[in-house]
Amino acid sequence: MKPIRKAVFPVAGLGTRFLPATKAVPKEMLTVVDRPVIQHVVDEARAAGIEHFIFVTGRGKGAIEDHFDHQFELEATLERRGKKTELGQLAAAQPAAGATSFTRQQEPLGLGHAVWCAREIVGDEPFALLLPDMLHQGTPGCLAGMMQVYADAKGGNVIAVSEVPREQVHQYGIVGVGEAQGAGFRITSMVEKPKAEDAPSNYMISGRYILQPEVFDLLAKQTAGAGGEIQLTDSMLTLAKQQPFYGYKFDGRIFDCGSKLGFLAANVGYGLASKDLAGDFRKEIEGLLKA
Ligand code: UTP
Repeated sequence: MKPIRKAVFPVAGLGTRFLPATKAVPKEMLTVVDRPVIQHVVDEARAAGIEHFIFVTGRGKGAIEDHFDHQFELEATLERRGKKTELGQLAAAQPAAGATSFTRQQEPLGLGHAVWCAREIVGDEPFALLLPDMLHQGTPGCLAGMMQVYADAKGGNVIAVSEVPREQVHQYGIVGVGEAQGAGFRITSMVEKPKAEDAPSNYMISGRYILQPEVFDLLAKQTAGAGGEIQLTDSMLTLAKQQPFYGYKFDGRIFDCGSKLGFLAANVGYGLASKDLAGDFRKEIEGLLKA
């Protein structure tokens, strides 16, 4: 069983649901409480043992690269002013030298295509894939839980899932649930946006994956599917005929920060979980709700 050392973050999407906020600022740089969305997801990956962080970016996404770089002037100024706490916060968020890679998806041709753009950097080893829009709040982190399923199964592919109400299954990718396997279960089927009566379960695919490198060969051959985009699900369905897929049920909270509602809810959820802010923030919210 090869270890999972690398994680891919596809950040080349246009973020049209979030305009005008995302006209000049990448949606992954919008802030949830005190750090950009992408930082929350990188923190989750690091806590799960990831050593190399691969970003598939596009035009106008330079701020993401800058965010994970040293900011020499800022650090020198903080040093001069003796701001040890702030310096510590910056250092904790900073990946080690050489631990990040950035590649470009020149055109947003779909999630599957974005993942394929990372093939040379990932190489011939299994990798984690985290969709930065989807914030998974909980301890242990979602990817850490998936790593346990991967270890129990001694390899294979792992997908994180979360329960949704039956009447919402038509909005998501849904998996069929087979026998238990260590901390997870065997996935028996995957269906993209099924009708409630056809859905094999109410477990939605939540945007975290551990995938074997054979997925790249399948993505290379794939033509555009639903919506004219190269879909990841189509290649995963073919891969599932050749290799096992396991599910990990994440019991924390999930926020879809690609939508305005999910983003607002994430700020409330993370604000209420913040040691420094929770008490005062709760009072603010209670005051607003009474008004
Ligand atoms: P989304 O479809 O949610 O992102 O893709 P989007 O296209 O940016 O959003 P809207 O619908 O226009 O508001 C899920 C993830 O896949 C990435 C996105 O950046 C996002 O993190 N993605 C999507 C790519 O990197 N490339 C693509 O071609 C499509």
